[in-house]
Amino acid sequence: MAPPDALTRVLTVANGKGGVGKSTTACNLAGLAALAGWRVLLIDFDPQGNDGHILGYRWAGQSDDGRHLVNAIINASPIEPPLKAVRNNLDVVPGGEALDELEDLLAGRLKRGQVIHRLFAEALAPISDDYDLIVIDTPPTRPLLLRLALAATRWIVVPTRPGRTSIEGLRALAGEMSAVRDINPNLELLGVVLYDVETTATVIRRNAREDIETVLGGAAQPFTHVVRHALAPVCESEEKGLLIHEIAERVDNAEPYWKALQDGRKPDRVPGSAPALAEDFVLLTQEILTSIDAREQELETAR
Ligand SMILES: Nc1ncnc2c1ncn2[C@@H]1O[C@H](COP(=O)(O)OP(=O)(O)OP(=O)(O)O)[C@@H](O)[C@H]1O
Ligand SMILES: [Mg+2]
Repeated sequence: MAPPDALTRVLTVANGKGGVGKSTTACNLAGLAALAGWRVLLIDFDPQGNDGHILGYRWAGQSDDGRHLVNAIINASPIEPPLKAVRNNLDVVPGGEALDELEDLLAGRLKRGQVIHRLFAEALAPISDDYDLIVIDTPPTRPLLLRLALAATRWIVVPTRPGRTSIEGLRALAGEMSAVRDINPNLELLGVVLYDVETTATVIRRNAREDIETVLGGAAQPFTHVVRHALAPVCESEEKGLLIHEIAERVDNAEPYWKALQDGRKPDRVPGSAPALAEDFVLLTQEILTSIDAREQELETAR
């Protein structure tokens, strides 16, 4: 099996707090990077399996609810992504309820003194060269699953909502990161995404930036680009199994309202804020991909 050192392009989206935009960010980042021509693998490490709703494969009955991921980890066998070409250039390893069983199983092994933390890294390493970017979405409250993911991670991206309680979630994550550094010294915080912000709220943004710097020290700057508050397109995305830019494209191609009136049916509901939100994700994705390139070059030069 290839050594976990092969895992140079693994990016994990994490925050110890729930509902802060991890899955929306992970899926849209993966989908947009794939659209830009990167070969991308998305791994859903969450028993909720929400990525399957956002990308649509769960609605289409194609999810294995995390079974392949769990089997690869417990049998120490290479991961073979069960879903190929969910979009152009985008393969997926689905998550789901099987991961609940994994957490229990790992806890049992840990109690018996077995070493478990690199199991996922070892299962992922053999296929990592097939991809330019591997994006991992993580659950909010499963410490062992998070630890397995972080042990295989090069870059962490942390979405957080403005406000003290959300930002406090970063403290817990920072603790988890330092615990994992012993097993994985390559782990690095790439940046924090200010998520679900009112676009006009400059003061809130400034305060949030200051709070993040207080909690994480100089460890990472928040990304310049933020993700705005726009609930309607996010709900539409989860209901229809479409990424935000895919919903935005439907706004451009939306049929005129009179057409529905003429046909005697309800007009298509297309959230008007989708294009603006899509633009946020495009700018954020560009910034994240550019940051990875820049850090890789810095490290190369320092060698
Ligand atoms: N940009 C946004 N504006 C407004 N609401 C949003 C936005 N993005 C997400 N939400 C809301 O927050 C919910 C959680 O988003 P998401 O699933 O991405 O978070 P998460 O961190 O993955 O949650 P969990 O911890 O449960 O996995 C969404 O279902 C939606 O209701
Ligand atoms: Mg999630």
